Amino acid sequence: MNDEQPRDPHTEVHRVADPDATRVASYLAQPGEVGRVLLLYSGGLDTSVMLKWIQDEYEAEVVALTVNLGQPGEDYDVVRGKAMQLGALDCHVVDAREEFASEYVAPAIRANADYGDGYPLFTALGRPLIAKLAVEYARRTGCDTIAHGCTGKGNDQVRIEATIATLAPELKVIAPVRSWQMGRDEEIAYARKHGIPVKGGTETAPYSIDDNLWGRSSEGKWIEDLAHAPDDDVFQLVTRPELAPDEPEIVTVGFEAGVPVSLNGERLKLVDLLERAASIGMKHGVGIVDHIEDRIVGLKVRDIYEVPAAAILLKAHRELERLVGTIHQNQFKPELDRKWAYLVYAGLWWEPLREDIQAYVEHVNTRVTGTIGLKLYKGSVRVVTRESPNAVYDAQLATFADSGGLFSQSASPGFIEIWSLQSRMARRARGDQ
Ligand code: ARG
Repeated sequence: MNDEQPRDPHTEVHRVADPDATRVASYLAQPGEVGRVLLLYSGGLDTSVMLKWIQDEYEAEVVALTVNLGQPGEDYDVVRGKAMQLGALDCHVVDAREEFASEYVAPAIRANADYGDGYPLFTALGRPLIAKLAVEYARRTGCDTIAHGCTGKGNDQVRIEATIATLAPELKVIAPVRSWQMGRDEEIAYARKHGIPVKGGTETAPYSIDDNLWGRSSEGKWIEDLAHAPDDDVFQLVTRPELAPDEPEIVTVGFEAGVPVSLNGERLKLVDLLERAASIGMKHGVGIVDHIEDRIVGLKVRDIYEVPAAAILLKAHRELERLVGTIHQNQFKPELDRKWAYLVYAGLWWEPLREDIQAYVEHVNTRVTGTIGLKLYKGSVRVVTRESPNAVYDAQLATFADSGGLFSQSASPGFIEIWSLQSRMARRARGDQ
């Protein structure tokens, strides 16, 4: 407040209003309300600083929760050890890979889930599950508040807080990164002061990474400069296409009711299948996406995505679905798919419309059974074979020879005359002859 400013008696009244009037959301915790906090803990710098900061700032107890959604190369014993060392009452590590695969990724495959032409939603799909688990563990461990490490500029805060507010109206939320005004340097200084181990050098900030078994994103550093073509070091998952094998590889994906069940004829559990598809894709350089995205909160942002499993499986699913669908179904479904993807992207996983759309999507997918073969070669994925007992396809009908019966070539002119009727009438009505 600036005391040099002349005082306006009208605004003065508002300055003494009760604190609730300045509270922007009912689910945000006020300092006095925080007794025990469930912290969504990744083991990274932000949430490690937070673990200590919450204990100091709120004089609260902290229970940590780390969710395994198949982040490659994570050592959960190390993460847990770090949380305990920083004073957590407990650190729960939940392996949610199966639930993530079957309840989040499988519906996304059936809905050909893609946002903004290239983003298969792996983060957006993971957040509602992570937040749902946070609610479960908060209740189970007697926490009154959930804390997360999202910033105030991204989509993840929306996804996590919308989930908590929807599923657990009794729980409060704190989002320290949004309010603590520490930049990276201050966080490192805080970490040093409190004996929090800091990985890597302090000079260059790392990329901001989020990953799970459906993909990986990188943000920050040069990625924010739209004119800067990707530096090689951002690709930690997918082999750069120019370094991929000189020999192509064919992979076949078997589907039942819209969900992949086998790779190259081998039946696999979904988690294993997703991981296997990812590693084949990584080897051949597929699934690199350089994406400009419209965030929920209005900003545009650039992400570098590495989505090898999605590049293979979404392409295969879309192809098989089109083969078993009619022209009308095939024109209609992408509209619903787009809406489904947008609701998920926008943090509204718990919105009834998402379930309504999903019911339709699932019904269509009861027929999406069969096998798609794809050729992977230096960054490209191309469908080369298709096969389904439900294909709306008849090789005989498709050949040039008149097969009679269902389709008679001699009937086509009558169809064309009627099909073109309105166009011809309209042209005449406009006086163009
Ligand atoms: N832009 C993507 C999304 O909004 C990825 C976000 C990744 N999250 C992160 N905290 N780095 O879903």
